[in-house]
Amino acid sequence: MIETMAGLAEAKQRVQKLRELLNHHNYRYYVLDSPEISDAEYDQLMRELQKLEDEYPELITPDSPTQRVGAAPLEAFGVVEHPQPLLSLANAFDDDELDAWYKRASNLLGGRQTDFVCELKMDGLAVALTYVNGLLEVGATRGDGFRGENITQNLKTVRSIPLSVSKDAPRRFEVRGEVYLPKAGLKKLNQEREKEGLPLFANPRNAAAGSVRQLDSRITAQRPLDIFIYGLGWAEGKAMPETHWEIMQYLRSLGFKINPNNALCKTLDEVKTYYKHWLDRLETLPYDVDGVVVKINRIAYQDELGYVGREPRWAIAYKFPATQGTTRLLDIGINVGRTGSLNPYAIMEPVQVGGVVIKQAALHNEEDIHRKDIRIGDWVIIQRAGEVIPEIVGPIPSRRTGKEEIFHMPKRCPVCGAEVIKPEGEAMHRCTNAACPAQALEKIKHFASRGAMDIEGVGEKLCQALFEAGMVKDAADLYYLTKGQLVNLERMADKSTTNVLKSIEASKERPLARVVFALGIPQIGSETADLLVEHFSSIDELAQAPMEKLLEIPSIGPKIADSVLAFFRQKENQRIIEKLRQAGVRLEEKKTKAKDLPLAGLEFVITGRLDVSPRPEAEVRIKALGGKAGSDVTRKTNYLVVGTDPGSKLARAQSLGTTILSEEEFLKMLKEAEGKSK
Ligand code: IVH
Repeated sequence: MIETMAGLAEAKQRVQKLRELLNHHNYRYYVLDSPEISDAEYDQLMRELQKLEDEYPELITPDSPTQRVGAAPLEAFGVVEHPQPLLSLANAFDDDELDAWYKRASNLLGGRQTDFVCELKMDGLAVALTYVNGLLEVGATRGDGFRGENITQNLKTVRSIPLSVSKDAPRRFEVRGEVYLPKAGLKKLNQEREKEGLPLFANPRNAAAGSVRQLDSRITAQRPLDIFIYGLGWAEGKAMPETHWEIMQYLRSLGFKINPNNALCKTLDEVKTYYKHWLDRLETLPYDVDGVVVKINRIAYQDELGYVGREPRWAIAYKFPATQGTTRLLDIGINVGRTGSLNPYAIMEPVQVGGVVIKQAALHNEEDIHRKDIRIGDWVIIQRAGEVIPEIVGPIPSRRTGKEEIFHMPKRCPVCGAEVIKPEGEAMHRCTNAACPAQALEKIKHFASRGAMDIEGVGEKLCQALFEAGMVKDAADLYYLTKGQLVNLERMADKSTTNVLKSIEASKERPLARVVFALGIPQIGSETADLLVEHFSSIDELAQAPMEKLLEIPSIGPKIADSVLAFFRQKENQRIIEKLRQAGVRLEEKKTKAKDLPLAGLEFVITGRLDVSPRPEAEVRIKALGGKAGSDVTRKTNYLVVGTDPGSKLARAQSLGTTILSEEEFLKMLKEAEGKSK
């Protein structure tokens, strides 16, 4: 008996210690994004706690980190009455509407000056979290604003929601925020659903809502959900700061996750600058955002302004231009790519989405079209994100008339008429004719394109004209063009022919990795081409490399190796390489010893966005000059290059005394070094 008592007391102590540790690491990982221990070590602590709680169930408390794992299925969600309703927001779609909102508010405030808090408007699900005596008691959805669903069990699985807060917190209070699924999480979830044949989530909000409103919280626990808290609903038993901004700082100090991109703006012009800043950088955010929420900062002013209907007068959602639209799918066209793949694309009734007219969208492959159940004639939802090619999210089945047609890949190549096959295990259909003109033309276009031989003036149109005129049948023919031939082409003046011939000539000196990439060997992108060239310093060496040699290169597997072997085995490809050699295209690497290069021994780290030379390009340039491009600032780092919106690396570099370069200084240094290495 005495022994078990001692056991219990000891267990209790250890359980407490473990909870402290787990809460601390949980906070580091999920709220600060800055873990101090590995996932495995975290799991180890969690298992130890779980074991002790199994042994001594009397030690289990509702805020124990083990309670996040997901409990048995809920019967159904209970209803939660919101003591203060969760409201919605009025929208503004341009600066004029924002001005009008402010003018109204400012008039009501009798012209008193105010500042604003700008927050990113998360595309997720609104929730309210009530804490009583420091413990999370209820988590609820917004519902109709007055009554929501009780989803406490599910919200407990969201790691960035604290299960308990410090004793200094108000005795009872409610915070509000947006639960969301980061872009990467949504992508992964949809990939898994695709494998299981389940319908895909069309947008992050659906995915977050679908995940949080699971009857079985164990499913919720598996989704990488996250939260940003954006407001205090109400608080009892403690005075709260007088501005929204300070309240957010206070909530952050209690352990809540507040978006670090929120900003305090003094004037409406600053608000507009904030909006434009993020509109240009939506792609860089790891989550989806559909606008900026602008809030009048002073709580007393908010109270004075009050509400119209269900919308506060003290806040507005300044929306970003739409990224989704609906239109009709008129037909499905096919492009034949350079490896013979048949690439379907959507031909649609033109529609404006976010100020851009869209009439075509990528469709990937037949399986994808069938999985999404897209039929010719359907009304479809389309989506564009920044500069990427628009995509069809899915059909709108309720708008079908019955006349829609199911799409099938043609049995014959639409360009050359040869048989089309779908190789085992591949998603793409392929034309079987290696001499298919479509493939030949695409190969030439690829050869001359930017990342490849980068032949200025030889774009898609000129390639097509040269190909159709029979002057260029394969990429090597470009090097045998004459002025006489070129001037005969439409729209080729004397000057442009000279320029084209000059840039073709200049391309003969491209680095070997470019040539390897330009050849268009299936599976070989520009990075793999770089890798190959690190190990083989001429085309001949590469062409003669046996399987074992290729497989010795880290990250080159049998699939890529097979593709390389098959490519160099083909007579046609050997012939093209000979023609390139005869024309004087450099087919071997210029060897400079790394230690003789101007940046040898120097390590650079880049933080923030570079305007003139984007980061990947800058890193390639550093490496080409013998330098190293690191990802973290350490004592070994010689230079930190600071672009726009630098991250925490800047502070680290400052504390280590690392030399800091502006983008301008860095470019100057590169230019000088490049001058030296020529
Ligand atoms: S404030 C009365 N701030 O937008 C103020 N809402 O249409 C109401 N949302 O359902 C909300 N990010 O879920 C606020 N930083 C943010 C927000 C935000 C997203 C959502 C919220 C609400 C909807 C309002």
